[in-house]
Amino acid sequence: MSAKLIKGAEVAKEIRAELKEEVQHIKEKYGVVPGLVTILVGENPASQSYVRAKQKAAHELGFYSVQDDQPADISEEALLALIDKYNKDPKIDGILIQLPLPKHIDENKVLYAIDPSKDVDAFHPFNVGKLMIGQPDYLPCTPAGIQELLIRSGTETSGAEVVVVGRSNIVGKPIAVMMMQKGPGANATVTVCHTRTKDVQFHTKRADILIVAAGVTEYVKGDWIKPGAVVIDVGVNEVGRTADGKRILKGDVAFDEAKEVASAITPVPGGVGPMTITMLMKNTVRGCKVHHN
Ligand code: GUN
Repeated sequence: MSAKLIKGAEVAKEIRAELKEEVQHIKEKYGVVPGLVTILVGENPASQSYVRAKQKAAHELGFYSVQDDQPADISEEALLALIDKYNKDPKIDGILIQLPLPKHIDENKVLYAIDPSKDVDAFHPFNVGKLMIGQPDYLPCTPAGIQELLIRSGTETSGAEVVVVGRSNIVGKPIAVMMMQKGPGANATVTVCHTRTKDVQFHTKRADILIVAAGVTEYVKGDWIKPGAVVIDVGVNEVGRTADGKRILKGDVAFDEAKEVASAITPVPGGVGPMTITMLMKNTVRGCKVHHN
């Protein structure tokens, strides 16, 4: 058996075309365009590459977009002042602080300083809390992208056994909550596995939908997967560089083995990654509508 590929890159393109129309509509109705600022502290190459991709997407959709690079030794106080400036800037609907931040800065303090109505990453406790009670304003981008992929690939989630490998605040925890809520792309029975889980394979083998965000290259093997399962691989692991310097990426799932067992699987790259950025754009459009309505 060879699994159907769930091509996030193509789904993302489709959604971006929808968003482009929405931006045009907003422009005609309110005379503004969505505004996004991405703040990058320091020169981490992976972060630089992610931020560049976010800026490119914003630019292509016709957003007002600002890339704000700050030195690695910026003080916490100065970073908080910068956030305050963008909180007050009416042209800015979304503020994204690329993580991780340098060690001398308290990440929570910084994330809590963002106006929740501009928190397009949905990392602020206000937005996390609203998600938990099933009344989200913003959905966190990677989990939202995963859910959208499940919906648009026609995967039945209602009553499905969903197993999530990973319990991060960015992916594992929120996707588990989202999959158990009422509504489209949800209504599932959810199990969460993590580093202290006694027998991870016991759980993964039961999954109708297996979502892997473990942060370990090719962690999940083919024989950990139930035949016919849908596999969502959130891993982005750089395993080397091509001769011309491009990053070589592998997921958290051993793809070649998994594709022989699963009924559908997301590739890496070109699966969940492009969806994450697209959901960030969707959140920024939403922010703009809320700010101008
Ligand atoms: N660093 C890694 N993933 C993310 C993300 O989704 N948002 C932000 N802001 N930083 C990240």
